[in-house]
Amino acid sequence: MTSTEQEHSPEPGFEPEPNWPDAPGSGSPGAGYPGAGYPGAGLPDPDLEAELAASAAEDAGMTSDPSTKDGNSIKNDNKAQKDDTPRPHAAPQRMGRVLAVANQKGGVGKTTTAINLATALAAVGERVLLIDSDPQGNASTGLGLSQDERQFGTYELLMGAAVLDETIRPTKVPNLLIVPASVELAGAELEMMDLDRRQHRLKDAIDGKLGEFDHVLIDCPPSLTLLTVNAMVAADAVLVPLQCEFFALEGLSQLLRTIERVRTTLNPSLDVQGVVLTMFDKRNNLSEQVAADVRGFLGEKVYETVIPRNVRISEAPSHGVPALIYDHRAPGSTAYMSLAREVIKREQAIRDAA
Ligand SMILES: Nc1ncnc2c1ncn2[C@@H]1O[C@H](COP(=O)(O)OP(=O)(O)OP(=O)(O)O)[C@@H](O)[C@H]1O
Ligand SMILES: [Mg+2]
Repeated sequence: MTSTEQEHSPEPGFEPEPNWPDAPGSGSPGAGYPGAGYPGAGLPDPDLEAELAASAAEDAGMTSDPSTKDGNSIKNDNKAQKDDTPRPHAAPQRMGRVLAVANQKGGVGKTTTAINLATALAAVGERVLLIDSDPQGNASTGLGLSQDERQFGTYELLMGAAVLDETIRPTKVPNLLIVPASVELAGAELEMMDLDRRQHRLKDAIDGKLGEFDHVLIDCPPSLTLLTVNAMVAADAVLVPLQCEFFALEGLSQLLRTIERVRTTLNPSLDVQGVVLTMFDKRNNLSEQVAADVRGFLGEKVYETVIPRNVRISEAPSHGVPALIYDHRAPGSTAYMSLAREVIKREQAIRDAA
């Protein structure tokens, strides 16, 4: 642990399941496991308002078939091979809640949170699907997927060229599956502009097909454009990673406005599951100040768990494994276990209230 990292006590009674991969308790990196910037990051999106307003009218009376508007003609015949990889642990019907991990600011910990929260949830026996909806493909890389394993992914789902089952891949993490990002996803925003139900394409592709999962996390790109809007339309709630830095609150207001706009135009049940403070440095007064400001502004929406700045977290992706497997005792890993506990508690409260 470096001098800037925080201790974070593991949650008693919230340990990984016994069948969990033998994480290197010694802290030795990656034992047993192999191992960009994005245009528009953090910038206001002047077209979003118009896009959301136009879509509300346009969507009225549309079909819910994601393969329209020119029917099956958008199917990509070059990719007609189905993945026959056996899907482990086919389980009885579960109620998969969908969380979009979103923040238009770049580098705030969206992907790190998506990967490690998903892993922490899977570690306690929850069935988890991670949808990589960022053309950078960092979640797919961070979970060790080769380019070959990404042939069918989020792009094909959005284009109606594949169904969900064809895009789901296993990962090295038991209970955690992924819809990877293929290189083509970079073109999806543009291509979707000509398709019907362009803001609903992800929702249309996954709705009613998530029964075997307890949680579905969508890793969003650092923008508020069509890919993120699709994630928010498909989601039950948004989980916002917020880096403890000077401009954190400024970006947050814009994000909350966007969530509100999506709620009023496209997805009336969209909620904010919570805001997680990331890269917290307890030796830095600014981190403390930002955390206090965010809690003052958002109250209980902010998770009690704070993710510390921790070098083990940043090392893990280059080994193609989550930090929780790279070093499950690192302060960042135990913090994500603690976050998973809070997320489960909040989800349970929503289920109980339903
Ligand atoms: N708690 C942490 N401690 C140390 N490094 C971290 C932590 N969280 C994230 N990082 C590092 O910060 C960088 C940005 O994190 P990450 O890729 O998760 O952000 P992001 O919001 O997904 O970025 P983008 O907007 O580009 O998609 C990465 O190099 C990651 O390893
Ligand atoms: Mg990312």
